[in-house]
Amino acid sequence: EKGGYEHFMLKEIFEQPRSILDSMRGRMIAESDHLMMSGIREYENKFVNAKRIIIVACGTSWHAGLVAEYLIEDFARIPVEVEYASEFRYRNPIITEDDIVVAISQSGETADTLAAIELAKSKGATIFGICNVVGSSIARATDAGAYTHAGPEIGVASTKAFTAQVTVLALIAMIIGSKRGTLEETKLRQLMVELETIPAKVEKCLLLDDQIKEISAKYKDATNFIYLGRGYNYPVALEGALKLKEISYIHAEGYPAAEMKHGPIALIDEQMPVVVIATKDSSYEKVVSNVQEVRARKGKVIAVVTEGDTTIPSMADYVIEIPETSEHLMPLLSVIPLQLLSYHIAVMRGCNVDQPRNLAKSVTVE
Ligand code: M6R
Repeated sequence: EKGGYEHFMLKEIFEQPRSILDSMRGRMIAESDHLMMSGIREYENKFVNAKRIIIVACGTSWHAGLVAEYLIEDFARIPVEVEYASEFRYRNPIITEDDIVVAISQSGETADTLAAIELAKSKGATIFGICNVVGSSIARATDAGAYTHAGPEIGVASTKAFTAQVTVLALIAMIIGSKRGTLEETKLRQLMVELETIPAKVEKCLLLDDQIKEISAKYKDATNFIYLGRGYNYPVALEGALKLKEISYIHAEGYPAAEMKHGPIALIDEQMPVVVIATKDSSYEKVVSNVQEVRARKGKVIAVVTEGDTTIPSMADYVIEIPETSEHLMPLLSVIPLQLLSYHIAVMRGCNVDQPRNLAKSVTVE
């Protein structure tokens, strides 16, 4: 059942080239300019005219929501708010009939997310669901939606569900952007072509497994980790830190790299591993300065960079090279080495990676 892998989590990490492809299947064919999602089509006018999109989710799904905020605002120019479902439901939120509430949930059973959409529904908002489990409670409670089609995810730590969510959300942002005329035709085409190459590029990231295992051996006894990223890689930093803490029980913090100097920089000393996602994108130069700040305090830098980069490697203790892609799609690649890093560290520490202590696969209580 684990397909020859030692754990479900590892199997699911390695399934991602396929699961990402499955999440696009039938929805996008770059060659023939085909871009379509049936769940959206029905509500196309609502999406095109939405004044605001509110995303509600928990955990890893909330991180996918953060990526979606950047994607939708970039492509469709609609304001997006990303909310923890548990906070949203209890703080008397302002919701109107012109709002679209997007609930993201792998299991479709998360109690807080379900309650958040029931609340939004009672205020007249349109509810759109992005779930992995077909026929789940959240999928049934929404007006429309799109399944992620990642296949069953057994490991408690979410991996392939995250990349499938980001893929579906990218498609949604592209569709709305193109309908609203805020995403140029040529840009849209480039994105479609690029998205089609992602499964093969994820495959290349998976080839880094042995190298990441070696890095894991160096840091398996660390007691703290910091993860830094900016722009599209900021949610990836949060996701990398969450993966590490939940399965290895090492304390980890994810931060937007520039926010470091407002507090967390005080934690950095020669004992502190700092994972920096520093791919070539619009915030690259800024991240270079953040890496220098870490170096100046003797922090250990593990950098995820774009293939061929020479600047960051000259400053880092360990370098993980991943393929180039559009910055909008980079989370689909940059998250892979972080999933592998947390997996190997947890295994080396003797942790039960598929069923970490205190955690359940779906959180059906608030
Ligand atoms: O099933 P959901 O996507 O609604 O679950 C949300 C979170 O409970 C989930 O992502 C959790 O944070 C994972 N264990 C993260 O790996």
